[in-house]
Amino acid sequence: MKLTILGGGGFRVPLVYGALLGDHAEGRVSRVTLYDTDAGRLTAVARVLAEQAQGVPDAPAVVTTDDLDEALRGADFVFSAIRVGGLEGRAADERVALDQGVLGQETVGAGGIAYGLRTVPVALDLARRIARLAPHAWVINFTNPAGLVTEAMSRHLGDRVIGICDSPVGLGRRIARVLGADPDRAWIDYVGLNHLGWVRALHIDGRDELPRLLADPALLGSFEEGRLFGADWLRSLGAVPNEYLHYYYFNREAVRAYQEAEQTRGAFLRDQQEGFYARMKDPAAPALATWDRTRAEREATYMAENRDAAGAGEREESDLESGGYEQVALALMRAIARDERTGLILDVRNRATLSVLDADAVVEVPCLVDANGAHPVAVDPLPYHAVGLVTAVKAVERAVLEAAESGSRSAAVRAFALHPLVDSVTVARRLVEGYREVHPGLAYLDRP
Ligand code: G6P
Ligand code: MN
Repeated sequence: MKLTILGGGGFRVPLVYGALLGDHAEGRVSRVTLYDTDAGRLTAVARVLAEQAQGVPDAPAVVTTDDLDEALRGADFVFSAIRVGGLEGRAADERVALDQGVLGQETVGAGGIAYGLRTVPVALDLARRIARLAPHAWVINFTNPAGLVTEAMSRHLGDRVIGICDSPVGLGRRIARVLGADPDRAWIDYVGLNHLGWVRALHIDGRDELPRLLADPALLGSFEEGRLFGADWLRSLGAVPNEYLHYYYFNREAVRAYQEAEQTRGAFLRDQQEGFYARMKDPAAPALATWDRTRAEREATYMAENRDAAGAGEREESDLESGGYEQVALALMRAIARDERTGLILDVRNRATLSVLDADAVVEVPCLVDANGAHPVAVDPLPYHAVGLVTAVKAVERAVLEAAESGSRSAAVRAFALHPLVDSVTVARRLVEGYREVHPGLAYLDRP
């Protein structure tokens, strides 16, 4: 099996390779091709991988290339993990929004729209190239905003592109653990869009155990989302939202905390990773140890401002174990390659799963995966409060896709203005102007 990683010089690639190193079974990945537009980053990451492979006799062979066509030819799986505009771009996405008094975050609200507007044209090109050069490859999209980017790619790749996120699995596992259940035996009823979903039930041996959690303030106070949202709100909602819904339910607090923070998340990660790639310019630097140290700092600070704003305190050791993107990707690849039927929460086209959305809308729902791909399972309808957010955000995503395909500025303004976390059309217009000033990648929005 040949796996190609687009964005192969990315900081998280060693996590993926680490997961592959632990897979010794039949049909495993034996060749990894790293493709990146940045040669320096590619070399740095390849050095980490070489150190990881030491002492592992069946370690997958690694090659690097800056030739996209060569990278794609013969690929069985393609991981798309690109970051258009880099972390500098992310920091600008966050800053421009916060300066307008609205949420500046990687995937949610104005920042996510800006990131989507920059990324979708590139993702569409990649999807076209993959459809031509590797028509039988399965494409796993890691790139945020994952639902939107997967939907864009699905226009050329159909159901051969599947988006992933680790947050639903992580949330499900934390809830199962709090309930004293084996996370691997729980069926999690989680539905919505990427970073916009709710756990509505958690079945163990055919019984929904979520009511037991919601009825118990002590249990609710004992895990991350319980503290983040507060027992009262979770009980009132009757579900446990994805942590990203904190940005909706506690928007003022989140915006204020981010405005007062010394640095945005993107700026923090930019500095940290620049440090790593700069140290790797020294050929004598220990690659794996340097990478590992940087990663540990990153994990420890993940969503720290949100927890502070909510008074949720430090993240506990067990909360750090989120399930991990690489584990979700590996499980997905295995299920397809070996035709081992597996249940996973994934970003796929809706078909008829959520009746309030059309068939092509990419949603994040429980799926059964086998050699024929990911098949969403039937779920209960969304409650109205969720219908409101999900359909509003899908309308935003559709406006982003329209703007990306047509270059229409008014479609871009509509995308920002329709978002529930942007409170004025005037602000939406300023956001489009502000983002066009800082992002050369938005020059394509040149039509009225
Ligand atoms: C979670 C989200 C991802 C996000 C990641 C890292 O796992 O599901 O979509 O990329 O956190 O966030 P960070 O702020 O560290 O880049
Ligand atoms: Mn995610």
